[in-house]
Amino acid sequence: MAIHNKSHSNHALMSLNKLRKDNTWKQKSSDDFEKPKEVKIVHSIRDCCDFLRELPDESVQLICVDPPYNLELTGWDIYDNYIKWASKWIDEAYRVLSKSGNMVIFGGIQFRDAKSGDLIDIIHYVRHHTRFKLINTITWYYKNGMSAHRYFANRHEEIIWLAKTNDYYFDLDSVREPYLEEDLKLALKDKRLNPENTMKGKNPTNVWQIGRLNGNSKERVGHPTQKPVEIIDRLIKSLSYPGSVVVDFFAGSGTVGRVCIMEGRHCLMCDNDIASKEFFAKHLELMRNSGQSTAYKEIENISDFFNTDKD
Ligand SMILES: C[S@@+](CC[C@H](N)C(=O)[O-])C[C@H]1O[C@@H](n2cnc3c(N)ncnc32)[C@H](O)[C@@H]1O
Repeated sequence: MAIHNKSHSNHALMSLNKLRKDNTWKQKSSDDFEKPKEVKIVHSIRDCCDFLRELPDESVQLICVDPPYNLELTGWDIYDNYIKWASKWIDEAYRVLSKSGNMVIFGGIQFRDAKSGDLIDIIHYVRHHTRFKLINTITWYYKNGMSAHRYFANRHEEIIWLAKTNDYYFDLDSVREPYLEEDLKLALKDKRLNPENTMKGKNPTNVWQIGRLNGNSKERVGHPTQKPVEIIDRLIKSLSYPGSVVVDFFAGSGTVGRVCIMEGRHCLMCDNDIASKEFFAKHLELMRNSGQSTAYKEIENISDFFNTDKD
């Protein structure tokens, strides 16, 4: 039996389309903002909850965190009650996000032994105990990984995207992917697609194929779970705007800080391991070696960060 496309009778979609036609609805994009003359960075070494408590209400545009996955791989990755611990920083994160704010959390759902909690429990917690809206679950798919014999070798991790309200900032145009010539011709003939958007490129979808960092990757600065710049860049470009405040309270090597310098966002980083500073210094060295600007102003404490002019 054929199932008909009912989008023409979907009232939410119809009113959204009407707003678009009337031109009363306009999603802001990075072109609406100027990059700041100087990026400001705080890099704090302490527990994430102590750090978060110091941030003012509704002061942050994007929280981009890659927390311990509770895999018992290292000392900082073991929790008796993972979700009890995670709920503390999730609740604080909600408080500090602005109304247009977004939060992304990396995690895995394929691990068999995370008995005290993992990303599944985080999703359950945000659904049932917070007012966060789950916008997307992004699958980060990679071709390189460990082999396996008793199950299918894992080749993906997840990133959940949460928004504080329905007025969340999202700049799709900044991360569209170019069509191949043949695909572009077909897309332009597709009546369901807006040709103006088609010319800008395609939606990268919620499955992202980006290689993990191998041991010998040029990007590596020595942190065991360092994330690729390409993934963080896509998140920062689409979910925050130039001059806005981005926070990573599980900074690790400081990949988020590195991308904030590249993209003109102010950044607050925190990690409870002092080695985070050395890793970040290596990121800066790599940037300099590849001719990228590393100009930023380091601010000692959070109150000074919010009291100084960020333009
Ligand atoms: C998965 S790693 C982050 C890696 C990072 N995304 C990168 O690209 O380098 C998690 C980090 O959280 C830190 N961490 C663990 N528990 C913490 C806590 N309670 N407060 C602050 N940092 C913590 C660890 O030291 C570790 O560096």
